[in-house]
Amino acid sequence: MTRKSFYITTPIYYPSDKLHIGHCYTTVAADAMARFKRLMGYDVWFLTGTDEHGQKIERRAAEAGKTPQVFVDEIVEWIKELWDILDISYSDFIRTTEERHKQSVQAIFKKLYEQGDIYKDKYEGLYCTPCEAFWTERQAEEGCCPDCGSQVEMVSEESYFFKMSKYAQRLYEHILENEDFIQPPSRKNEMINNFLKPGLEELCVSRTSFDWGVEVPFDNGHIVYVWLDALSNYITALGYPQDMEKVEQYWPADVQLIGKEIVRFHTIYWPIFLMALGLPLPRQVFGHGWLLLQEGKMSKSKGNVIDPTVLVDQYGSDAIRYFLLREIPFGSDGVFTTEALIQRINFDLANDLGNLIHRTLNMVNKFAGGVIEAPSLEGEHDGELKELALETSGEMEKLMDKLLFSNALAVLWKLVGRANKYIDETEPWALNREGKRERLNTVLYNYVETIRIISVLLQPFMPKTPYRIWELIGISGETSQQTWDSSKAWGLYKGGTRVKKSEVLFPRIELEKEEEQKPPKKDRKKSRKVVGKKTAETSKASAENQAESSSHIKIDDFARVDLRVAEILQAEKVDGADKLLKVKVSLGQEERQIVAGIAQYYKPEEIVGKKVLFVANLAPVKIRGIESQGMLLAAVDAGGKLVLSSVDKEIAPGSRVS
Ligand code: MSP
Repeated sequence: MTRKSFYITTPIYYPSDKLHIGHCYTTVAADAMARFKRLMGYDVWFLTGTDEHGQKIERRAAEAGKTPQVFVDEIVEWIKELWDILDISYSDFIRTTEERHKQSVQAIFKKLYEQGDIYKDKYEGLYCTPCEAFWTERQAEEGCCPDCGSQVEMVSEESYFFKMSKYAQRLYEHILENEDFIQPPSRKNEMINNFLKPGLEELCVSRTSFDWGVEVPFDNGHIVYVWLDALSNYITALGYPQDMEKVEQYWPADVQLIGKEIVRFHTIYWPIFLMALGLPLPRQVFGHGWLLLQEGKMSKSKGNVIDPTVLVDQYGSDAIRYFLLREIPFGSDGVFTTEALIQRINFDLANDLGNLIHRTLNMVNKFAGGVIEAPSLEGEHDGELKELALETSGEMEKLMDKLLFSNALAVLWKLVGRANKYIDETEPWALNREGKRERLNTVLYNYVETIRIISVLLQPFMPKTPYRIWELIGISGETSQQTWDSSKAWGLYKGGTRVKKSEVLFPRIELEKEEEQKPPKKDRKKSRKVVGKKTAETSKASAENQAESSSHIKIDDFARVDLRVAEILQAEKVDGADKLLKVKVSLGQEERQIVAGIAQYYKPEEIVGKKVLFVANLAPVKIRGIESQGMLLAAVDAGGKLVLSSVDKEIAPGSRVS
């Protein structure tokens, strides 16, 4: 039986400069999807590449004193290395300067001309070189490009035109009839209202005022418009039109991922070119949001781009991939801050996942000589853990099919949280103390089996980490325990397997004091340092120094406080203490007990059900012999009256406050 195919593409990037973290966003998402589909058994083709022609590149090369080809060769080399360090598993990398592509573009142009869709005329209008886009005077208000704001130039030259209007109605109908074609839906409405409804203008598809491009095969001096050249890559890379084997195997693409500013090119020009070529349209074009900085868009000219290679160097590629996929819902814009990245690393990776593995391995080594025995005594909570573990892959599949990467990871982290809670519930240290061997062996088995399932489900997102986990839990060679399907079966981990000594998978990151004297942006590479727990004392001393030297705290200090929304589940008076209430709260995946000094201001029954702000990483203390595991936040007025904090709208307990 032939496997079902899945074709996914990224935009092809301009090698006019090195790429920044925003560019990596699309490619990491496409890679996660490609890996996921491969694990699901699909025959996946994953295409990326570079868009190397056009006036912009020609000018950048001239500024650098290089020929365009030498100029792009150097940057493309760098881009390929970048994809390697980010573990991008592309099937093919197309460069528009490759002979295979140029010949195909010429054949496409010729076909469109011969069938009468392209005709020669004179173009007079406005052109934005950074976007390589034509604009009318109405669109380019005050002479500025509506997309990027650059000054547009008046162009007047003999050109070939494509008859867009001939296909406009068909495209309109296709968009209306195929809900999934343009995603998310807001982008579809924008295309309909801003471009299709006002009527499409014929598109200029050749230029004569510069040389760097694919020559029109039958008219010397004409260069194919760079967007027609570039968009064709999605089929020329498959061999179109010379060799149709791969085209038949993979076209139409299942998902074409692009950023929101190039949706117009991909959902209007591209489908119309395909219609004219008699080819089916891609099943889905997904226009994701932008990764922004706090001060706005990243751009080389503003000098505020974030170099992905520096980030990978500092934090590791899996952590960067996790952050990109987890932090921002795929359709929306999101802000990149180092603080947010560090929070994700510290909370999700170091605390949640790292600790689960660390605690488990330590206990297996300490209580069971490093060997996991087959389970032999079922007990309370086992069923709940197994049930969640076994349904996680199915939940994730539904979300991944809608490109909801962040939600899929949240589902996986629910299992991570549940497993940590299960350790607390089953208290292996007590089982060991009391000599309950059978039950102890069973819970240790359950921890490791859950870790195995988590590691399998991590594969699309963090390709390196699963291998490290498999090494630690002793299943590196056990491929049958690593397939996606193996996450749907409980009990594949073999009794008698020896685990390794624990190692820190994700060291917690602390921002150094030297950060105060920030070097110029360019040299800041080393100003943040990764430290393990060992250095907690030094960092404490440094925090104290800092507190002495200034009454202000830095955002990094604030980021160290794990603030959450907590829902109050129970409250009762503490015997013999007028001011204290013993309160049980839910943080979503876990419950905490605290002792709060609010009894003079609130009756226990008054606060049950309230959602309040909560400090979740305060070291536990005993108050009147009761352990208090956190702190509720309250405001205090001049007379000392306490008023509990609250949240403005309905929100899930456990949500982070930042
Ligand atoms: N060469 C064209 C695409 C041709 S596809 C046939 C192009 N190249 S680009 O290098 O400027 O952009 C490539 C992709 O990177 C676009 O999808 C764009 O949205 C994306 N991004 C560039 N900056 C970005 C962010 N800051 N955040 C997210 N994506 C970003 O356009």
